[in-house]
Amino acid sequence: MANLGFVGLGVMGSLMAQRLLEKGHSLTGYNRTRAKAQSLIEKGMKFAETPRAVAAAADVIFSSVANSAALTSIAEGPDGILAGLSRGKLFVDMSTVGVATSRAIAAKVREKGADMLDAPVSGSVATLKVGKLSLMVGGKRESFDRVKPLLEDFSDQPTAGQGQKVTYVGENGLALVMKIATNSNLAVQMLAFSEAVLLAEKNGIPRQTAVDVLTHSAIASPMVQYRGPFVLKLPETAWFDVNMMQKDMLLALELGRQVDVPLPTAAAANEMLTCARAIGLVHEDFAVMFDALAKMSGVSR
Ligand SMILES: NC(=O)c1ccc[n+]([C@@H]2O[C@H](COP(=O)([O-])OP(=O)(O)OC[C@H]3O[C@@H](n4cnc5c(N)ncnc54)[C@H](OP(=O)(O)O)[C@@H]3O)[C@@H](O)[C@H]2O)c1
Repeated sequence: MANLGFVGLGVMGSLMAQRLLEKGHSLTGYNRTRAKAQSLIEKGMKFAETPRAVAAAADVIFSSVANSAALTSIAEGPDGILAGLSRGKLFVDMSTVGVATSRAIAAKVREKGADMLDAPVSGSVATLKVGKLSLMVGGKRESFDRVKPLLEDFSDQPTAGQGQKVTYVGENGLALVMKIATNSNLAVQMLAFSEAVLLAEKNGIPRQTAVDVLTHSAIASPMVQYRGPFVLKLPETAWFDVNMMQKDMLLALELGRQVDVPLPTAAAANEMLTCARAIGLVHEDFAVMFDALAKMSGVSR
C-alpha cells in the first residue's frame, strides 16, 4: 500500500483514482470542482483543499487535467503542486498536454529535489472500466522503475499476446509525443469510418447494417469497435468531446510543423472537427464528426 495523491478528478481522473482506492492505497485527492470528488470521498479518499496540500500529503502525486493551461494552473502558484513538493517525491502527470509545458514543469520539479514523469494514457472510459488502459511513460528510467507497479494498478494483468500496457518511451516529453501521435489517429479513423458508413448508406444499405459489417471487418480497430456504433446513437455524456479531440489534433499539427512531418489526414480530420464546432456540436462526443459529414452529404442522423 502506498501513500498517493490525485489532482484532477474529471471523467478519467475519477476512474483512475477509484482504481487506486480499490487496490488498497491511501489516497488524498483534489479537484477544482469539489462536488466531483464526493463519491471518492465516500469510498475513503481524503479531500485536500489545494493541489499543494495533495503534494505535501503524498509520496507519489498523480494528475489528470484537461489541457496545458490546466496543468500549469494545478502545478504553479502558491497553492500549486510545486509548492508542496519536497526531495524524493514523484509527480506523475497523466494528462495529454503540450510537450514544452510538461518539460518546463519537469525542470521546476527537479529544482525541488523531486522528479516528474509524463504518463499519458490511451483508452477511454470503456477501456478503463474493463482494465485495458495503456500508458506510455517519459522521464528518468529510475523514476519509471519506481512507479511502474503503481501504473500497472490502473489496468488488469495483460492478456497473453496483447503486449505491454505500460511502456517506457524515453526522456521527459517523449511519452506525450507518442500519445499525441497516437491520438491524431482517433479522429482520422472516425472520419474514415464515417465516410464508409455514408457511402454505404447513400447507396441504399441501412446504417445499422453498415455499422455491423464495418465493426466486424478488417478495419475495426478497438476504437472503431466501441465508438463506431455512436453513429447510430451518441452517448448522453461525451466520452471525449469535440473540444478535447481538437486540442489533441492541434497538438499533433503543431508537432508535425515543428519537425517537418506533413499530416494530411490529421489536417482533414481537424477541419471536420471545426465543422462540427461550427454547427453547435462542440460538447458532443467527437464521433459527431459523422453528423458533420452527414450534413454535407445531405443525410440526416
Ligand atoms: N476522456 C477520455 O477518453 C480520455 C482518454 C485518454 C486521455 N484523456 C486525457 O485525460 C485528461 C483528462 O480528460 P477527461 O476526459 O478526464 O476530462 P474532464 O472530464 O473534462 O476533466 C478535466 C479535469 O481537468 C480539470 N481542470 C480543467 N481546467 C482546469 C484548470 N484551469 N484548473 C484546474 N483544473 C482544471 C477539471 O476540473 P473541474 O472538474 O473543476 O472542471 C477536471 O478535473 C485530458 O488531458 C485528456 O486529453 C482523456
